[in-house]
Amino acid sequence: FTVNWDVSAAEKGGYRHFMIKEIHEQPKGLRDTMTSRLMEEKDQVILDKIKLDKKTLENINRIVIVACGTAYHAGLVGKYVIERFARIPVETEVASEFRYKNPIIDQHSLVIVISQSGETADTLAALRLAKKKGARIMAITNVVGSSVAREADDLLYTWAGPEIAVASTKAYSTQLICMYMIALHIALQLDKITVEFFKKVKDALRKTPQMVEEILDNTHDIQRFADHHFNVQNTFFLGRGLDYYTALEGSLKLKEISYIHSEAYPAGELKHGTIALIEEGTLVVALATQRELYEKLLSNIKEVKARGAHVLAIAQGDKKDIEKVADEVFYIPEAIDEISPITTVIILQLMAYYISVARGCDVDKPRNLAKSVTVE
Ligand code: G6P
Repeated sequence: FTVNWDVSAAEKGGYRHFMIKEIHEQPKGLRDTMTSRLMEEKDQVILDKIKLDKKTLENINRIVIVACGTAYHAGLVGKYVIERFARIPVETEVASEFRYKNPIIDQHSLVIVISQSGETADTLAALRLAKKKGARIMAITNVVGSSVAREADDLLYTWAGPEIAVASTKAYSTQLICMYMIALHIALQLDKITVEFFKKVKDALRKTPQMVEEILDNTHDIQRFADHHFNVQNTFFLGRGLDYYTALEGSLKLKEISYIHSEAYPAGELKHGTIALIEEGTLVVALATQRELYEKLLSNIKEVKARGAHVLAIAQGDKKDIEKVADEVFYIPEAIDEISPITTVIILQLMAYYISVARGCDVDKPRNLAKSVTVE
């Protein structure tokens, strides 16, 4: 009697690839990252041992977020929410640029480094440079005891669990949660938001695991979409405000694992160049989850449609009129605009995954890419 079993299949827990397993682990990752930090009964964020109290924060006049790849995209959302909630100027920079430009950093700066692995060479070098210049360093990482974790002053773990697939998914969504928690914490300490506003965002964040589950329970439309469009040669992701940052991440996911040429643009920049590339059949993914900017996105969709584009739109569940202008629409569960990056990206991860599978690519180990870039 022999039992034939394959270690790698067992590790995938019944899923075909690590990436899809990790996509499905996101509700748990989000819950674990929020538990004990964003509690139902508490009107504050409990940020582990982070020493960012009112006095320390009043001494800080600038925040710089430094990261690479997907973590950089989480940092862009971080900039948006910290500025919006706490009204402090924030820059988000790619680590390999930051480290070679003599950045303006001093003891009044807070530098936040984001790194899933905690070992990316450029991010680590950026951390060391900022530290040398006297900045306070906060790290957000997924790996306990990693270099970034050991060298930072303050540390916030994303409790995503081990991420094996090269294309990052659950690390990203949990990094987003950390960005929101930091933004809310700073804003509360500096009295920039009311307790009511805090509760509104907190309640919305606490519901994100369920909202993500809802999307994960209904993936057949996304699979069908992938089966129809896996042969496209070019894709453009458009969005405004927070949707632009999600567009960048969606575009990166698609190019990383399917090798389809893909670019993300702020929708308002269309007429400054990109529109010249739109022709009959070009696939455009238009993100329209921000209510304030919704009408603007509708106009942008009409502009690309008039040039022959095939448009997939993603919108809030109550915006059904978008079906009149887009060819296909996926909806995210209705929520406040501020938290839409967390749900929107799940659809884009699934889309990239199913397109990659349909094209027969090596989903978990895409060509030329590494999970962790520890050399320059
Ligand atoms: C590589 C990985 C990406 C990741 C980036 C930054 O490019 O393929 O998925 O986003 O490195 O990695 P880090 O571990 O610093 O988040």
